[in-house]
Amino acid sequence: MVSTPLSLSILLISTVPYCQAGSQSGSTEQRLPRSHWKRGQSSSSNSRNVPSEGYYDPRANGGLMLTKVPVTYPMGQGEPLNAIISGNSDAAVLKDQETQGGLRNYFLSLGFSGECLGQHSGEDQAADLGDGHGTKNETAVIRWNYGDPQLGSCKETVQGGNHFRYWVQDGPNTNSGAVFMAVSYEKPLNDGHDIIQNGYSLGRDWLVGNITNTTIPTANLTNGMNFSANSWSGGYEYQSDVRYITGLLDNTNDAINHNITVSGPGFNASDGFVAVIEVKLITKPPKSLAIITLPSLWQASIILGLLSLVLS
Ligand SMILES: *[C@@H]1O[C@H](CO)[C@@H](O)[C@H](O)[C@H]1NC(C)=O
Ligand SMILES: *[C@@H]1O[C@H](CO)[C@@H](O)[C@H](O)[C@H]1NC(C)=O
Ligand SMILES: *[C@@H]1O[C@H](CO)[C@@H](O)[C@H](O)[C@H]1NC(C)=O
Ligand SMILES: *[C@@H]1O[C@H](CO)[C@@H](O)[C@H](O)[C@H]1NC(C)=O
Ligand SMILES: *[C@@H]1O[C@H](CO)[C@@H](O)[C@H](O)[C@H]1NC(C)=O
Ligand SMILES: *[C@@H]1O[C@H](CO)[C@@H](O)[C@H](O)[C@H]1NC(C)=O
Ligand SMILES: *[C@@H]1O[C@H](CO)[C@@H](O)[C@H](O)[C@H]1NC(C)=O
Repeated sequence: MVSTPLSLSILLISTVPYCQAGSQSGSTEQRLPRSHWKRGQSSSSNSRNVPSEGYYDPRANGGLMLTKVPVTYPMGQGEPLNAIISGNSDAAVLKDQETQGGLRNYFLSLGFSGECLGQHSGEDQAADLGDGHGTKNETAVIRWNYGDPQLGSCKETVQGGNHFRYWVQDGPNTNSGAVFMAVSYEKPLNDGHDIIQNGYSLGRDWLVGNITNTTIPTANLTNGMNFSANSWSGGYEYQSDVRYITGLLDNTNDAINHNITVSGPGFNASDGFVAVIEVKLITKPPKSLAIITLPSLWQASIILGLLSLVLS
């Protein structure tokens, strides 16, 4: 009679590790609602065609290398699209998802997370990548997470810091799959989230600094300068090859949002450099971790529980 509650408690206890491990391994996946992500159906049915550069110059097809800011675009101002994740990156990395080593997991590997508690703050900016989709709103805003993947982007929202908006060049005319990013370092919320001085170039270079674990010499960049490094998140390892190029953006203040406060002595609000980042997924976590071990652990615990019932 005593043995039945005992074996029941074994059964209960033995399911606990499953619950804990399950919520742990699932935490990164559960944080963002999965159903939100596009499945890339439009991209796969309308297959990618990537030029050797890894992207199509939006300006060659009626687009712009500047975003359109709701308040200042009517006056002709926007923010520079100063970083591009190349369409020559691995297809898995270009998928806008956190699972299976996708783009959001790559961002996590660099210390950047989605918006604070999934809440979208601020007005959307738009961009025309010349891909045939015309002007479209940003896919999302991603913020430096101060080392805390869950809540750090909340801190960024309040205290300011590095962040970027992004758009995917996947339209019917030019489908490279490249991810165009507008990176900038913003001031605290109290200051109306203005951009710090030189905040487009510094934001880009601190992002690249985080990718490559190197201090990027913002004032001394040259065309073709390149850096390479690996980063990790959720058991996935990425190799990023970054190359600075000129020719896509102008070195200028003209038409750059906040140009009065962002420019300074010896530098323009836009320095004319774009960081092109090619990302390879080089290691995946063992499948057993999430898919095989946990259910079988759980199954084993039931079997053990039942066994102890029978044996008693
Ligand atoms: C794009 O963003 C603007 C500004 O946030 C918003 O007013 C507009 O409804 C958005 N458009 C679409 C199609 O979501
Ligand atoms: C990484 O990002 C943080 C926040 O933007 C920045 O302060 C830091 O300098 C970056 N690291 C490097 C090596 O650039
Ligand atoms: C980054 O570089 C520093 C030295 O510059 C080194 O101590 C550290 O281990 C590096 N981090 C990674 C993740 O490679
Ligand atoms: C850029 O180069 C100048 C002259 O060589 C040097 O004094 C300065 O420290 C460099 N700046 C950076 C950020 O590397
Ligand atoms: C960039 O890569 C080229 C080879 O493509 C190499 O010759 C050059 O030294 C690199 N430059 C820097 C600054 O790393
Ligand atoms: C800033 O841009 C203007 C063109 O708009 C250019 O003439 C000037 O040389 C640039 N300044 C610097 C410091 O590069
Ligand atoms: C900022 O850009 C506008 C054009 O959008 C230009 O008229 C103005 O002179 C620029 N301001 C500075 C400080 O360069």
